[in-house]
Amino acid sequence: MRREDNEVLCRVGPDTPMGKVFRSYWNPIADAKQLSAPDGDPVRVRFCGEDFVAFRDSSGTLGLLDEYCAHRGASLALARNEENGLRCIYHGWKYDVTGQLQDAPNHPDPEFCTGFKAASYPVREAGGLIWGYFGPADKEPAFPHFAFFEPPVSNLYVARVDLNCNYSQLLEGGLDSSHVGILHADMANPGWASGIFERNTDANNPGGLAVADDAPALSIETTNFGFHYAAIRKGENGGQSIRIVPFIMPSARIIPAEVRTATLFEVPRDDENTSTYLVAFGEFTDDRPRQLKQSGLDDPRLYSEEDFKWRGTWENRFGQDRSTMNESWSGLKGLEPEDAAVALSMGPIFDRTAEHLVPADAAVVHMRHILLEAAKAVAAGEDAPPLPDLTKVRAVADTEIPAGADWRNLAPDNIGIADKAAE
Ligand code: FES
Ligand SMILES: [Fe+2]
Repeated sequence: MRREDNEVLCRVGPDTPMGKVFRSYWNPIADAKQLSAPDGDPVRVRFCGEDFVAFRDSSGTLGLLDEYCAHRGASLALARNEENGLRCIYHGWKYDVTGQLQDAPNHPDPEFCTGFKAASYPVREAGGLIWGYFGPADKEPAFPHFAFFEPPVSNLYVARVDLNCNYSQLLEGGLDSSHVGILHADMANPGWASGIFERNTDANNPGGLAVADDAPALSIETTNFGFHYAAIRKGENGGQSIRIVPFIMPSARIIPAEVRTATLFEVPRDDENTSTYLVAFGEFTDDRPRQLKQSGLDDPRLYSEEDFKWRGTWENRFGQDRSTMNESWSGLKGLEPEDAAVALSMGPIFDRTAEHLVPADAAVVHMRHILLEAAKAVAAGEDAPPLPDLTKVRAVADTEIPAGADWRNLAPDNIGIADKAAE
């Protein structure tokens, strides 16, 4: 990859092309549990290098404002949340959810407030997440609609993890089918140490694979939401084992397991920090503690739901216990510790001029291509591609179809379109 392209891909500040791409869409900005109560604690939100504060007022309405008070900059995350507004503790300026100034105790003219409005941003709650939009008001897109917004959604499971690296490193892991059978070997193939493929029979587990084939062929199709791809492995019965993963602009993917799907978002906090939001639903039987265990979010050395912070660093070797590596492939326990360790071990922003790509990386390359095309478009003053209704966009867990059959028939509502740039 060219150095210039890597810069465009990774930099997300206010005046960067990729920053503008992310600001063209609604993005998750908090776990809804963080803002559950009226007049509760305001929540700091960092998005693409800028700081905001989200709060729920006395009537339950959500507000999203600049973090720093428009008077002289004290953080409104420290503010009193009272009687339908945030009141800065420094000089008492009080803002409602629209940013309208309600009161300014250190100004003698009561009329001063009427003409003063601080910046505010569109904010909504859906699917267990709080969503924000930070782009130009006249370009606000329709609010997206994901399958996990649809009631009745059974067993909604939401998790947030804050990691110290660029969003693209985490996103690439999610679009890389060939690592599933290797990095996640303990789950994909519990018999890996004996060299005999053993199927993981836990239907809840997205790390389980149906067949032993670590070099899947990838088939990619550009769609009206981004793209989807099939990892095609040798089937057990002479056919092809298909696993389909959609990528949805600007940073979402849907990961399949037999009885549930997980939609993941990699939301840049800034160039070197990312919040991963995971929303899973389906007919799965795991309760929350077991879900956390499967994700590997049950180890207090590495993670706490108190502050969502991932604590795996070189200081603690990302949680790797090398004494277990005869039985455990990675020496790590669970999907997130494995995915986090490899992404973080690349450093905050990986220099992609140094990599050596192989055919199994085709989906990663296509993701970069789609994002860089969008960045080029917004840099030229055009709009980033709008999202269609996403309700029926689906991932497909390992399914065997006859050799030569078209995998796209397994996900007929993922609508393919011609990719002009790729042609
Ligand atoms: S800094 Fe907030 S009221 Fe003065
Ligand atoms: Fe992974």
